[in-house]
Amino acid sequence: MSDLQKTFSIVKPDAVATGKAGKILAHLEGEGFRIVALRMTRLSQSQAEGFYAVHRERPFFGSLVKFMTEGPVIVMALEREDAVKKLREVMGATNPANAADGTIRKLYAESIERNSIHGSDAPETAADELKYFFTSIELNQL
Ligand code: RTP
Ligand code: MG
Repeated sequence: MSDLQKTFSIVKPDAVATGKAGKILAHLEGEGFRIVALRMTRLSQSQAEGFYAVHRERPFFGSLVKFMTEGPVIVMALEREDAVKKLREVMGATNPANAADGTIRKLYAESIERNSIHGSDAPETAADELKYFFTSIELNQL
């Protein structure tokens, strides 16, 4: 039996704006994720640039930052066994055209950019991203 692990996720602006946030949260709970911390917010330009800094040299960076700041998002800490890997599976491929049936991106994403959900890609990234949005008290109190 593996231990509980936390990961970080964002319901992206496309999904919030089109009323899919509740369905996405229900999908995550249905897959065994516990919502540990959650907040609706709107990312500033510098928050979005910092969050996706690993992609700053990529051709899509400017467009990605514009998209991620266009409207409210829901940031959350999720917990389950093997949470990082499992969330990536449940999300599906970055491009919804390549995402497996039944995944969140297959069900709800609009395009490779407007793809409804973010999930940390490794345990180290999850730790950094959780700290970027939540205090240690928020992550450990409930
Ligand atoms: P995320 O970080 O948001 O969970 O997504 P990911 O790991 O599946 O994909 P990543 O390569 O990290 O890309 C981050 C986000 O940038 C947008 N993107 N646009 N136009 C494009 O070719 C392109 N490629 C990526 C997507 O919003 C992607 O989720
Ligand atoms: Mg990524």
